[in-house]
Amino acid sequence: MPDRFPETTLRTERLILRPFGGADIEDVQRGCADEATQRWIPLTTPYTLADAGSWCTTRAHALRESGDGIHFAVVDAGTDRLLANVGLRHTDWETSTTEIGYWVSPWARGRGHAAEAVRIVAGWVLGEQRFERLELKAADGNAASQRVAVKAGFQREGLLRNAGVTHTGRVDLVLFARVRQDLGGS
Ligand SMILES: CC(C)(COP(=O)(O)OP(=O)(O)OC[C@H]1O[C@@H](n2cnc3c(N)ncnc32)[C@H](O)[C@@H]1OP(=O)(O)O)[C@@H](O)C(=O)NCCC(=O)NCCS
Repeated sequence: MPDRFPETTLRTERLILRPFGGADIEDVQRGCADEATQRWIPLTTPYTLADAGSWCTTRAHALRESGDGIHFAVVDAGTDRLLANVGLRHTDWETSTTEIGYWVSPWARGRGHAAEAVRIVAGWVLGEQRFERLELKAADGNAASQRVAVKAGFQREGLLRNAGVTHTGRVDLVLFARVRQDLGGS
């Protein structure tokens, strides 16, 4: 049995971060087919309802079980409507390091959801899960994502040249990280 994160639900006053389920399928399809999401994340294209169904009921859960990470459906605490996907991936259990990624549903952008959800997952993985380092990589041209990183308390560490892939070609990635010692300031 590989090391893996426990199935978990996290909460803020307005957000719940819970495992994906069948009720999220249509909203995942819309979020992943969205032009801005596809611009920065090289998801399957076209992204179909079948792709979303597979993500919500199988793949997101299998990734947690494999030890690669954990993927949260970020939903409105009042309505349970999907607002975002925030997930951990490429987890290295030997060095206690992992990487965070996210997209926000097109109808929910610009309201601080990404920064709030990233901040709570960072606090959980570096605190309760006792990880040492959480990386965040954003394309050099993705100003909104870099802003999310800064708002969520990450420090910029440098530029990873030619490290990223988009549908339109390779990109440089800006590397951000939060480490355990940063938690005191959050
Ligand atoms: C990037 C993304 C996750 C941001 O989600 P969000 O919930 O709107 O983010 P927040 O509201 O927490 O913060 C966005 C910040 O970026 C800023 N921003 C938005 N567009 C911007 C732009 N083009 N240039 C500079 N800043 C921008 C906003 O003003 C806000 O900062 P502020 O609160 O200081 O005003 C969302 O736009 C998205 O899903 N994009 C497509 C997928 C993606 O890029 N994922 C990240 C891959 S690394």
